[in-house]
Amino acid sequence: MGAGQSVAVFGAYGHTGRFVVAELAARGFVPVPSGRNAQALEELAGEYGLEARVASVDDPASLDRALAGTVAVINCAGPFASTTGPVIEAALRARIPYLDVAAEIEANLDTFAQYREPAREAGAVVVPAMAFFGGLGDLLATAAMGDWATADEAHIAYALSSWHPTAGTRLSGAVSRERRGDHRLRYRGGQWERRTDAAPTLEWTFPDPVGRRPVIGEFTMADVVTVPQHLSVSDVTTYMTTEAARDVVAPHTPAPTATDAAGRSDQTFLVDVLVRSGGAERRATAGGQDIYAVTAPLVVEALDRVLTGRTKAVGVASAGEIFDAPDFLRALAPHITLDLHPRKETA
Ligand SMILES: NC(=O)c1ccc[n+]([C@@H]2O[C@H](COP(=O)([O-])OP(=O)(O)OC[C@H]3O[C@@H](n4cnc5c(N)ncnc54)[C@H](OP(=O)(O)O)[C@@H]3O)[C@@H](O)[C@H]2O)c1
Repeated sequence: MGAGQSVAVFGAYGHTGRFVVAELAARGFVPVPSGRNAQALEELAGEYGLEARVASVDDPASLDRALAGTVAVINCAGPFASTTGPVIEAALRARIPYLDVAAEIEANLDTFAQYREPAREAGAVVVPAMAFFGGLGDLLATAAMGDWATADEAHIAYALSSWHPTAGTRLSGAVSRERRGDHRLRYRGGQWERRTDAAPTLEWTFPDPVGRRPVIGEFTMADVVTVPQHLSVSDVTTYMTTEAARDVVAPHTPAPTATDAAGRSDQTFLVDVLVRSGGAERRATAGGQDIYAVTAPLVVEALDRVLTGRTKAVGVASAGEIFDAPDFLRALAPHITLDLHPRKETA
């Protein structure tokens, strides 16, 4: 439990930030809501009786004030192309851990490339993509690998019952597309490839009750950044059910709406991970409700482990690298269903 430690949440009044603030409070931390809109911050802070701290990525001193006296910062403000660098630098100045929920692969790659050395030299912990995309799949892939040191392929297939995107998801997607130009990215043979052809469509057999479903292959998400940072796997591929892939880009798909007391939408998810080495396969699968809501227990569990020294790395590290993956996944039990398929290895 948080035992009253103050944790800054940048982008606190966004859809995901609100879930993170609620989860922090539920686990005994004192969230310090921060962001650039004073009125939205005050309204959120008022709901919980918290102190709001207005800060802008263009004003480093305001970020220093936002982080003063806190034990860590969680960055939920996306598009992350604009926020990651300034907030990481403020965390390094404040000598506190930094975690974010970024699912923009260019921003995720920048974090590893630009802050690996400074963070390691400072003995600081920076965990990017500690969220549904980038975090959960990486933990599942790491758990599925088990005692394998290398694998030929990692496949992470997402079955979303629908995908009603938030404004932040739409904006982040637009920023990523702009940065990528006419290309799409995939990870093959241990390196990134820029492609101009259409992503493949195929079918993926998910565990029951989802079953066999059409998916877009090479639907490259943050896990394709986080997994190869620490696992020796030549080909890493993510897949998305076709209907969800259509939903997220369609201009009139509505934003998510709350259907339960916790504010979760009725969206359900299954993340099915398969790793392959020679002729052998290992799997790990997780299911749950609402990809935005489940990001809160993921990032707050990560924060708790960082603050209590349950870590295996310093510097910039992805979830599977820094945490004991099976133990972390089991700790999420109230929020996800989990099948680590311990005896289903096939050769
Ligand atoms: N990896 C994952 O699985 C995962 C899960 C959930 C969310 N995300 C990502 O998290 C981000 C937020 O998503 P959301 O659902 O919370 O969206 P949202 O409801 O639109 O909230 C976005 C938040 O970011 C803030 N923000 C954006 N740009 C900012 C900037 N330059 N400076 C300060 N604040 C800024 C917004 O503040 P203003 O209103 O002032 O603009 C708002 O508070 C998106 O990039 C989304 O893709 C990823």
